[in-house]
Parts: sequence; C-alpha cells; structure tokens
Amino acid sequence: MSAAARHIPVLIDEVLDALAIQPGEIHVDGTFGAGGYSSAMAGRGARVIAFDRDPDAIAEGRADAEAKGITLIEGEFSRMEALLEEAGVAGVSGVTLDIGVSSMQLDRAERGFSFQADGPLLMTMSQSGMSAADFLNEAAEEEIADILYRYGEEPRSRRVARAIVAARPLERTSELASVVRRALGHKPHDKKDPATRVFQAIRIHVNRELEELERGLEAAEAVLEPGGRLAVVTFHSLEDRVVKQFLRARSGGEGGGSRHLPERKAAAAPTFEKPAKAIRPGPTELARNPRARSATLRSAVRSAAPSSLSTNARSARP
Ligand SMILES: C[S@@+](CC[C@H](N)C(=O)[O-])C[C@H]1O[C@@H](n2cnc3c(N)ncnc32)[C@H](O)[C@@H]1O
Repeated sequence: MSAAARHIPVLIDEVLDALAIQPGEIHVDGTFGAGGYSSAMAGRGARVIAFDRDPDAIAEGRADAEAKGITLIEGEFSRMEALLEEAGVAGVSGVTLDIGVSSMQLDRAERGFSFQADGPLLMTMSQSGMSAADFLNEAAEEEIADILYRYGEEPRSRRVARAIVAARPLERTSELASVVRRALGHKPHDKKDPATRVFQAIRIHVNRELEELERGLEAAEAVLEPGGRLAVVTFHSLEDRVVKQFLRARSGGEGGGSRHLPERKAAAAPTFEKPAKAIRPGPTELARNPRARSATLRSAVRSAAPSSLSTNARSARP
C-alpha cells in the first residue's frame, strides 16, 4: 500500500475552502506527510512548496510530488522564511499546517511512536536529535514528571515518572507502555489506555512540537502576502490553544504571549483579519476516519500590516 493510501487527509474540503486558491498562486504546505493536502492544492492550480522534517516522508513523496509539480523540501516549517528564500520565493498566498504525527509515523513500529506495537523508543520525526529513550533514561525524575503533566495533562505524572526512573534503562515502546500501565493500573477493557497521554507528552517534548508551532505561526505571518490565507489543523487542545491565542492576539484581541518568542509591541497593527470560527469534522468524516476525531481547523487572512517580528528578532532565533 502506498504512503498516500494509508494517510487520510483530515478536514480537506474545509481547508481548501479556507485557502480559496486562485490558479497560479504560490502556497506552502508546511507538513507534507503523505502529500494529501499538497496534491489537493496542486489540483486547484496552486504552485505548491511543501516541507516535512521526516526524511521518510520526503523520500516516499518525491516521485509523486515531482509528477504533480510540487516542490518538496526537507526541513522544519519553523525555518520557512529561510527555506523559501533558498528556493527563491519572497512571498506566498497561503500557508497550511497540519500539526502532529502522520499515520505512516504512527503505524510503523520501528519509528517508536506507538504504544500498541513494540518498537525502539525513538519518536523522532526528523530521525535525528534526542530520542524518547535518551530523554527517559537521562532526565531527572522531576523533569519527566513536569513534561508528562504539561504535555500529556497526566494528573498522576509524579507516580509515572517515579516508575519510569525505577525501571531504567528503557529501550522499547512495549517496556514503557507496561511501566505506565503498572503505575496507573490498567484493565484490558478500559476505554483509554493510560499510555496514551504519556506517549503524547514524550512525543511533543522530543520533537519540540509546541515551540515549532509557535515559530511556524510567526514564520507564516512573515511570508504571507497581504490577503494571504493561513489554515492550521491541530489534534489536541494544547496545540489548538496556541493557534487560537496567536490569531486572537494578531487580529486585535488580547493575549498571545509566548515563552518562546520575543514580545510584540502592544500597539502594533493587526497582522491577521477575519479569523474564522473553529471547524471540527462532521459525522460523515468521523465515520470514514476515526483518527480525525480531535481535529480542529482555524484560519485567518493576512492583513497588509508589517509582520510582528523585526529582522533582528527573527535572526536571533535558535
Ligand atoms: C498529520 S501529518 C500531515 C499529513 C498531510 N496533511 C497529508 O495530507 O498527508 C504531519 C506531518 O508533518 C510533519 N511535521 C510535523 N512537525 C513538523 C515541523 N515542525 N516541520 C516540518 N514537518 C513537520 C510530520 O513529519 C508529518 O509527516
């Protein structure tokens, strides 16, 4: 089965509506995955520039992308300005982000994302840098507990962290899943496996997903031309909150402050307008694709106001 056949694009019609593509426009797909969004955008006549940080997504999508005239680039969407500059593109009419793991990443045991299949404890989207095993075997118990609480909203994070430290070294997903189930108590007929939240938290931490999202939104603001459209699909409340607060702050509302980004001048003109109400999948999509159940789409239109970050602030990023 091809990669594209295994990943069903989420909220695709709603994303296309929000993007309102005119033939010949340049659109960025920041999260290529199996190429579902990129293909649909190209099908509407856009010139698509797509990024993915996962070398497998790039290798497996290359031939199809080429056939459809999609420019496919390996890299993080947080580096969108620099990557577009290298590709000779100054401004774009649309930026789309479909945040989270792809079905290919989740379904391949050897990538280490799933608690349902045994595999090495990796969870790295880019297949480089700190792995889940590196983190769990080296971090202090308190740091592990903080991550499980912050990114997994796991109420018994301290108990789980203690159990993880006692069981070190951990090398396999099945070992981690058993440690968590033993620590929290798990009956086979329980609706939700307690490992769900813990795996989510570790994945978000290892891949710096919330920082990537925050910087990706700033980058989108910088590269979108006036009238350009931003569409972001997220899969859990922590990510949705980041997008919601960003759009509220950038469209003249309150909030949007981030630990990771430079302060924005209070009186700066709104850089986005017409933030749309959050859209969630309807019953027909959920019946076809249960993985879409926690998806939320938010979108807005770029105004003509200058981007919030000065060149200095942008180049100071890690
Ligand atoms: C949910 S999938 C996207 C699926 C895609 N919309 C489709 O229709 O096939 C998310 C993809 O984004 C990639 N990704 C996640 N964070 C990224 C980042 N910060 N920069 C670039 N790619 C990222 C992942 O590697 C994964 O392949």
